[in-house]
Amino acid sequence: MSNITGKIILITGASSGIGEATARLLAAKGATVVLGARRLERLESLAASITESGGVAACRTLDVTRREDTQAFIDFAEQRFGRVDVLINNAGVMPLSRLDALKVDEWDRMIDVNIRGVLHGIAAALPLMQRQRSGQFINIASIGAYAVSPTAAVYCATKFAVRAISEGLRQEVGGDVRVTVVSPGVTESELAESISDEAARVAMNDFRRIAIPAEAIARAIAYAVEQPADVDVSELVVRPTASPY
Ligand SMILES: NC(=O)c1ccc[n+]([C@@H]2O[C@H](COP(=O)([O-])OP(=O)(O)OC[C@H]3O[C@@H](n4cnc5c(N)ncnc54)[C@H](OP(=O)(O)O)[C@@H]3O)[C@@H](O)[C@H]2O)c1
Repeated sequence: MSNITGKIILITGASSGIGEATARLLAAKGATVVLGARRLERLESLAASITESGGVAACRTLDVTRREDTQAFIDFAEQRFGRVDVLINNAGVMPLSRLDALKVDEWDRMIDVNIRGVLHGIAAALPLMQRQRSGQFINIASIGAYAVSPTAAVYCATKFAVRAISEGLRQEVGGDVRVTVVSPGVTESELAESISDEAARVAMNDFRRIAIPAEAIARAIAYAVEQPADVDVSELVVRPTASPY
């Protein structure tokens, strides 16, 4: 038994990469996991695999850019399991490119998913956590929340924003609700597939050769969840040992 056993843990962007690895690890540690993303078939097969391994999982389609959909995801978990102990705001996209490429639609998508998606999660779950007088937000930022590099200006801006929002939330709601930022360095996932810019994709493929497994980030998330209620792990940066960034 750990502090994870029996917790109701919601994960956005659970259909691949870090979200999927986190769902598997937390379910193996006894959490009930509620999985959200747009690709329902992926979620259903992940939930089935967790159930076959003796875990408890439910899933629902979710687009975090839609406020009402995010609310419906939280309501689904509350109706099914009675409460929400942890919301992991993990869904994210990273279509990198130089600003002068003017991929304005991709800037908008990053802002919508990476910033608005996190805010929608907070808006949907915070009232419930305040009523429960307990809860935890785990917001997935990035090493891009600490430093900017070419092609990553907008992506980094969204991740700086996730850190700023998380710190503000922590200061405002501390007492009952814990707030954690987990910032991965380069990690195995499907994230780079959203890059449409050829030069940025080539550079990222090279960088990703040192990527650590998604389970490394899942372990950091589990560490933050399993601390006692009066201990808030505010920020964790987890990167490849070989990474200079
Ligand atoms: N991998 C890395 O190197 C790295 C480094 C730093 C930070 N991160 C952060 O880690 C988080 C997870 O990414 P990942 O690396 O695991 O990449 P990934 O494998 O591409 O996973 C991203 C997840 O986000 C979901 N998603 C995208 N748009 C969504 C939307 N509108 N609504 C709901 N879900 C949406 C995707 O599912 P659907 O397409 O099915 O909706 C997918 O499950 C992201 O916030 C990313 O910025 C990753």
